[in-house]
Amino acid sequence: MPTALFDLTGKVAIVSGAAQGMGRAMAMALAEAGADLLLTDLNEAGVTRTAEAIAGLGRRAIPTRHDVSEPAQVRQMFALLDKEFGRIDFLGNVAGESIMAPPEDITLEDVEQVWRNLVLGRFCACQEAGRRMMRSGGGSIVNIGSLASITALGRGHVAYSMAMGAVAQMTRELSTEWSGHGIRVNAILPAQVLNPGLEKRIAEKPSLRDQFLSGIPAGRLGHPDDIKGLSVLLASDASRWITGALIPMDGGNLAMNAGGSVRHPLS
Ligand SMILES: NC(=O)c1ccc[n+]([C@@H]2O[C@H](COP(=O)([O-])OP(=O)(O)OC[C@H]3O[C@@H](n4cnc5c(N)ncnc54)[C@H](O)[C@@H]3O)[C@@H](O)[C@H]2O)c1
Repeated sequence: MPTALFDLTGKVAIVSGAAQGMGRAMAMALAEAGADLLLTDLNEAGVTRTAEAIAGLGRRAIPTRHDVSEPAQVRQMFALLDKEFGRIDFLGNVAGESIMAPPEDITLEDVEQVWRNLVLGRFCACQEAGRRMMRSGGGSIVNIGSLASITALGRGHVAYSMAMGAVAQMTRELSTEWSGHGIRVNAILPAQVLNPGLEKRIAEKPSLRDQFLSGIPAGRLGHPDDIKGLSVLLASDASRWITGALIPMDGGNLAMNAGGSVRHPLS
């Protein structure tokens, strides 16, 4: 049972990217602390599995398939939220993919698509949530950023880094604009967290694992469940005076200024 400070009973949350990885872990953590949820992901089967696991905890979870890079679909998701729950207390903007290519080769179409995934989609969801939270007297929003929100990674991450930098500033601007309405907006900046995409990249180039580990003083790569504690903290009253923060979840990477690598970024 959560202590009263971390109790989310009666609260309603939206989490995107909830089929797997950090989105699923965040959704499970919020449900374990008492929240009901609307979940979304492009992966319908995966998000349905997450909703079933949450139902097994005795909480309500509605799985949906929306593409968060499309504002019309984000708005549809909030319309469904209004109908099914009638309120929102927490938004977790987790979904979003990148396209990697060297800056001299990447197409502007790909840069724009990454921006739609990570910036426009997150902003549209913040706007929809913020409007509702203003009417209800407050709430909490968490945007997933990255080490790339505040440091360069190299290795073809230029579109991702530009977008994640914008996510950091989105978080700071919204926290500044909305704090008077009781709305807190924070960002979590993860280092390398194992997911199928990262595992594939490491399988293709095994030296990447050691390269990443050399930048993580804690001595291991991240696991999606590492986001559970921060998710509950930031959704709950336990963090009621924390807003506008960019919180590393990185095993110490940013503290030693390691970024994506301590080697030459092109190696
Ligand atoms: N894994 C890492 O090392 C890492 C590090 C820093 C930041 N991040 C960021 O954290 C977030 C989650 O990462 P993860 O490792 O849990 O990812 P993941 O690949 O395990 O899961 C991402 C989920 O988002 C869904 N998704 C992707 N695009 C979508 C869209 N347009 N609309 C709806 N759903 C969509 C996918 O179907 C998938 O289920 C991403 O924004 C990622 O950029 C990841």
